[in-house]
Amino acid sequence: MIIAIDGPAAAGKGTLARQIADHFGYAYLDTGSLYRAVAHAVVKAGKEPGDEAAALKAAKELDPAAIDPKAIRTGEIGQAASIVAAMQPVRDAILAFQRNFAENPPGGAPGAVLDGRDIGTVVCPEAELKLFVTASPEVRAHRRWLELKNSGSKVSETQVLEEVRERDKRDRERAHSPLLPAADAHLLDTSDLSIEAAFKAALAIIESGR
Ligand code: C5P
Repeated sequence: MIIAIDGPAAAGKGTLARQIADHFGYAYLDTGSLYRAVAHAVVKAGKEPGDEAAALKAAKELDPAAIDPKAIRTGEIGQAASIVAAMQPVRDAILAFQRNFAENPPGGAPGAVLDGRDIGTVVCPEAELKLFVTASPEVRAHRRWLELKNSGSKVSETQVLEEVRERDKRDRERAHSPLLPAADAHLLDTSDLSIEAAFKAALAIIESGR
């Protein structure tokens, strides 16, 4: 069983995907962390995120098991990730890892939940269940801002909203694997839903599609 969860930045995909994976005992892969890790390696090497040769090298050398979750969860790395993610060779370099995770979930788990931007459209078009999770830019920026504030950041909510809009635009308008619901995806708008309510709504969709 493969569950594909796509949607824009800070729509609540990660929280939802993790809850669903826990509930069913499935393995979970945050594919955004792969692009973030590539971007982080590029920046750490002193290169610009738009440097395609540096990004491709980082993508080929990526060791998903060695990703430092703390280092990659910054606004700067999120932006840089959306720049490296627009490069087709970078996407190609990490495609096999994602597909293999979905088809052979680690630990012999009976299923996998992957979240990202192109899971239902490109990585796992054959996924049994696809969710496209959205929320208004304002709601998403507010959630991301709270998260950043709680981890000690002094960034303003206005700046986070600007970053969310910028990243949405880049992810939606890129030529390769743009952010887009698969034709057979179930839409879930979490703007007015608590985490618990979003989880319940997702479970109802999954159960109805089984
Ligand atoms: O999900 P997250 O916000 O961590 O992803 C960071 C960036 O990685 C996104 O803005 C997007 O450009 C890219 N990404 C992607 N395809 C995925 C997952 C993430 O292009 N499947």
